[in-house]
Amino acid sequence: MTKLTDKTIDAKTWTALIDSAKSAYQKAYAPYSNFRVGSAALTTSSKIVQGCNVENASYGLTVCAERNCIAQGVIQHAENDGLQFSALVVYTEQEKLTPPCGACRQVISEFFPKDAPVMAVNHLNKQQQWTVEQLIPDAFGPYDLSNKTTNK
Ligand code: THU
Repeated sequence: MTKLTDKTIDAKTWTALIDSAKSAYQKAYAPYSNFRVGSAALTTSSKIVQGCNVENASYGLTVCAERNCIAQGVIQHAENDGLQFSALVVYTEQEKLTPPCGACRQVISEFFPKDAPVMAVNHLNKQQQWTVEQLIPDAFGPYDLSNKTTNK
């Protein structure tokens, strides 16, 4: 698998993100699927936040690692507005890398610039990168709401 290098995130930061996603993976609560996922994201103020998947006996209330990671960033952020992330890592111990699910792609697009890198990585250090735009082109976002017309 090709390892892409990103201009804005240096190798040391990628390593820190991967290590954080791996440690979040250890905390995953996935007794139903046994599919553990860890995630880490870098905020534009250079903080790393973590998330893991948290499943539920009702199944449908399961929350993915990526969305818990973003929620962690929101909680840790000093203000209610202006939070942005610059990179996200999804760590699994699957032979096939795990890309973010559709729901997570939508939530990622709320907080990440279109050109921000998202990396899937596994225990063998196999890696794949996408931009947010590649994961969710033409995403519905805040801009669409601000341009709404009333139906009166
Ligand atoms: N899962 C994630 O946490 N992130 C993904 O990107 C894909 C799926 C979780 C949800 C569920 O707990 C388990 O993996 C199996 O779908």
